[in-house]
Amino acid sequence: MRTRAAILWKQNSEWSVEDIELDDPKAGEVKIKLAASGLCHSDEHMVTGDMVLDPGIAELMQLEQFPLVGGHEGAGEVVEVGPGVTTLKEGDHVVLSFIPACGRCPSCARGRQHLCDHGAVLLAGRQIGDMTARHHAADGTDLGIMCCTGTFSPYTVVNESSCVKIDDWIPLDKAALVGCGVTTGWGSAVNAADVRPGETVVVIGIGGLGMNAVQGAALAGARHVVAVDPVEWKREKAPHFGATHTAASIEEAMALVGEISWGAMADKVILTTGVATGELIGPMMGMVAKGGRGVLTAVAPILQEDVKLNLFDMAMQRKELVGCIFGNANPRRDIPRLLRLYQDGKLNLDDLVTNTYTLDEINQGYQDMRDGKNIRGMIKY
Ligand SMILES: NC(=O)c1ccc[n+]([C@@H]2O[C@H](COP(=O)([O-])OP(=O)(O)OC[C@H]3O[C@@H](n4cnc5c(N)ncnc54)[C@H](O)[C@@H]3O)[C@@H](O)[C@H]2O)c1
Ligand SMILES: [Zn+2]
Ligand SMILES: [Zn+2]
Repeated sequence: MRTRAAILWKQNSEWSVEDIELDDPKAGEVKIKLAASGLCHSDEHMVTGDMVLDPGIAELMQLEQFPLVGGHEGAGEVVEVGPGVTTLKEGDHVVLSFIPACGRCPSCARGRQHLCDHGAVLLAGRQIGDMTARHHAADGTDLGIMCCTGTFSPYTVVNESSCVKIDDWIPLDKAALVGCGVTTGWGSAVNAADVRPGETVVVIGIGGLGMNAVQGAALAGARHVVAVDPVEWKREKAPHFGATHTAASIEEAMALVGEISWGAMADKVILTTGVATGELIGPMMGMVAKGGRGVLTAVAPILQEDVKLNLFDMAMQRKELVGCIFGNANPRRDIPRLLRLYQDGKLNLDDLVTNTYTLDEINQGYQDMRDGKNIRGMIKY
């Protein structure tokens, strides 16, 4: 079929909205009619090159990351089912999980679906089943898809392992957010940081992910939730999502946390800034209490190796620094679970989207993200 998509032809360029040709689903695949797609910062990392592989490595791995249909935070309805699909039927409502969860690989089997073996092809942009493309530009060029999903298009074809079936009555534009930002932010607090009642938690960077880490920490019973962001209106919004305190910078947060914890510092500190850089790690871990934990969720440039960190302090104060992908969640369990919390009024999805855009307005949407104008921007189809 003919549809449209926002394509990134190369690094450091704008999204180009064009007609594309979308094939029918092959074995194990489904066609989805999308309702909405969130504008996550991770697609921006493809634009800036943070998530772009070195050309030599890409060639070795036989990968072509561009051109790419972006978007990985979507939800919609199954409109066509390929041969052999057993878990979905036409008409089902699904959230697209930005990491597929096959349910059978060793990671899935031990309850670590965020590490599903299918994730190995996340940057390859091709279909999981046979590593070929279903998306093609008007001139016939094969198009990759972001995180095996490609939600910057009203229609996409994905593997069934990327789909999590949800209740029909959940509004699909709210559900879309749970495909990445909400689950990743919430799980950064609840799973990776393992926030316990009474703890002091700091979230650095309160955008689409961080605001949900704030929500997760509050829901897990944290006593203090300190939201750190240089953007004033986001700090003003943070208490609405459960923050008890705010700070404009890590330095300001450091003084504040010292005061409210009577010098004990923060049990958990979560990094959800737009980009993770090596210089942020030292100050972040400096805010962590003895026996506490720092969680690294923000994406760093792919070859970032230099980290500023006091190793003496790390060992002598028994601090932990842990990585976190997709909130260390199990999408097949956690996506429906989070949507039920939303239904019960315990998880706020209604106020996360601060601006909506048409597909044609996608570059404006990303400019607004860079300018600090959105908690989450969203394309509605
Ligand atoms: N680990 C994962 O599984 C995963 C999944 C999705 C996204 N991410 C990454 O998480 C990060 C956040 O994504 P997002 O969509 O929420 O981005 P966003 O742009 O919506 O939010 C980032 C926020 O950080 C703030 N910020 C920037 N520098 C800061 C600093 N030095 N101190 C305090 N705040 C600062 C910005 O003002 C903004 O509010 C990105 O790097 C994204 O790629 C990781
Ligand atoms: Zn994302
Ligand atoms: Zn798996």
